[in-house]
Amino acid sequence: MSTGLILGIESSCDETAAAVVRHGTETLSNVVASQIATHAPYGGVVPELASREHLRNIVPVVRAAIAEAGITLQDLDAVAVTEGPGLAGALLVGITYAKSLAYALSKPLIAVNHIEGHIHAVLLEQAELASESLPLPALALVVSGGHTHLYLAHRNGESWRYCNIGHTVDDAAGEAFDKVAKLIGLGYPGGPWIDALAPHGNPAAVPFSFAQIKPKVHRNQAHGDDWDRQFRFSFSGIKTAVLRYVQTHDLSASIQARRRALAQISNPKPADALRLCNEETLNLIASFQRAVVDDLRRKTFQAAEAFDAASILVSGGVAANRELRVRFTAEAAERSLPIAFPSLALSTDNAAMVAAAAWPKLLDKEYAPADLSAEPSLALGR
Ligand code: KG4
Ligand code: ZN
Repeated sequence: MSTGLILGIESSCDETAAAVVRHGTETLSNVVASQIATHAPYGGVVPELASREHLRNIVPVVRAAIAEAGITLQDLDAVAVTEGPGLAGALLVGITYAKSLAYALSKPLIAVNHIEGHIHAVLLEQAELASESLPLPALALVVSGGHTHLYLAHRNGESWRYCNIGHTVDDAAGEAFDKVAKLIGLGYPGGPWIDALAPHGNPAAVPFSFAQIKPKVHRNQAHGDDWDRQFRFSFSGIKTAVLRYVQTHDLSASIQARRRALAQISNPKPADALRLCNEETLNLIASFQRAVVDDLRRKTFQAAEAFDAASILVSGGVAANRELRVRFTAEAAERSLPIAFPSLALSTDNAAMVAAAAWPKLLDKEYAPADLSAEPSLALGR
C-alpha cells in the first residue's frame, strides 16, 4: 500500500540532513546536522573534513528523521538522495548510504539535483501553508554559497521542467559574502554576519559598481523561435574592490584587532562584532550588501520581464538575507508579480527539499539507475 512517504538525504556540502515528507507537501521530520563549527577555523568548507563529518553523522541523522516522523523504514515509498552538484566525497556518503538503504528495503531510489531541491523548498512550504500556488512559469533565483543561477520553471503534468537562463561566471553570491566577511575579520559563514551588521551602516557610503555584462542573446537552433538569453552574474570583482578599499583606507590594523578580539570570545556572535566595528567598517559592510542585493534584484527582474515570468521564487542560503527579501518584495509589488521565499530554516541546505523534489519523480517512476554516482558539476535543465 502506498504511503506517499519519502525519506530525503542530503550531503552535498557541509550539512548532513535527512527528512521525511509525505506526498511532497507535508514535512514529518527535518533533521540537519551542521558542520559549521568544524569548518569555521578555516573560514570555508574543507572537503576532506566534510566527508568525514558526513560519515560520522549520516546514521544518527537518518535514524532521528525516521523516529521524529513516527514511522518505520518499512513505511517508506522511496528513498531520495542528492546526486549533485556538490563536493564529490561529501555527495558519495549520502548516495552510498541511500543506495544501500533502498536496496535493503526493496524500495525505489530517486536522484535529486540539489538546485532543484532549493526550488522545491519554496513549493513544499507553499503547499504546507495551503497558499495559492505560484503562477507559472516562475522565474527562480537560486542563490547560495555554491550557486547563483536563474531558471524559468514550468510544469508539465506532474513533472517540472527548468530552463537555465543565467548563472555566475565566477564566484557565487554567497561565496562573495563569505570571502568579504573573512577579509574584514567577521565570523563564518559570513552571510548572516553581514546581514546583521549592514543595517548599522550607510549603504550609500561606498559606491561599488558592477560590470554590466550584456545578456548574451542568440537564437536557439534546436528550439525554433526560442530565445536563449544568458543573464550573467560576476561576484569576484566586488571582493577585490572591498580588498582595495581596505588597503587604501588603512583598515588592516583594525581588522587584525577585531579578529584577535573575536578569537577570545567563545562562540562569538554578530553583536560582539558590532562593538568592534567603527563607522567606516559598518558603512563598507552596508555598501557591499546593498551592491550585491541590487545586482541580484536588477538581473532577476530583467530576466523575469524578458521571459514573461508570471512569478518570482528566490531560494538558497542567501535568500535568508533580510535586505534581499525587503528589496525583492518591494520590486515584485511594484510590478504586481507574486514572489515567494522559503522560511529561514528551508533557505539553507536541508533534506525536506530533496524529499519534496523527489515526489513528482516517484509519480513519474523516474528512478535512479543502480550505478548512480556523485555528479559534482550536475547542471539543472537545458
Ligand atoms: O544553501 P546553502 O546552505 O549552501 C549551499 O548550497 O551553498 O547556502 C550557504 C550560503 C553561505 O554562503 C552563507 O554565507 C549564505 O548562504 N547565507 C547568507 C545568509 N544566510 C546564509 N547570505 C546572506 N545573508 C544571510 N542572511
Ligand atoms: Zn544549497
